[in-house]
Amino acid sequence: MQTTNKELVLDSQTIQNRILEMGREISQDYQDKELVVIGVLKGAFIFMADLVRTISIPLATDFIQVSSYGNSSASSGKITLVSSPSHSVKGSHVLLVEDIIDTGLTMQWLADHFSEQGAASVRICSLIDKAERREHQINIDYLGFSIPRGFLIGYGLDFEEKYRNLPQIYHLNL
Ligand code: IMP
Ligand code: MG
Repeated sequence: MQTTNKELVLDSQTIQNRILEMGREISQDYQDKELVVIGVLKGAFIFMADLVRTISIPLATDFIQVSSYGNSSASSGKITLVSSPSHSVKGSHVLLVEDIIDTGLTMQWLADHFSEQGAASVRICSLIDKAERREHQINIDYLGFSIPRGFLIGYGLDFEEKYRNLPQIYHLNL
């Protein structure tokens, strides 16, 4: 039998309470702006689904997928674009939604990418900031939680494509 060595880090209520606060702040900051919320696949899909439902102003949604991790828990150090958003971001205010920022490589690449595409502004929203291994300075405009270290699973976060469906966030003891 397969056993998983995991410890609860963030429960559902804690996650939802924080998302409600983030959604309120975003709704205020983007009043009267053309907002497009862009989720970074796959990890952000659950967080994004909950977040957009707490935002009270009109917005568009889109997704981008890049790869850096391959199938392991350590970054390969190189980003490749897997799939692009379906609409141009030119002139729009882009809010990038990510599950977790680790080394910062992915987010730096994405922020540069959308600036180059002519976005009116690019801001970053991440559920988790895992600063211990940060290599690229990232300004996180909207942050859910700081969890300095460890490998996290659940609520969209995977280990080798599994555990994304867990409703809460756990430390995985690798
Ligand atoms: P970065 O480019 O090193 O910041 O890595 C960002 C990506 O690595 C995230 O979008 C996640 O997909 C993945 N990642 C980093 N840390 C974790 C973790 O603890 N659990 C699951 N995925 C992680
Ligand atoms: Mg991710």
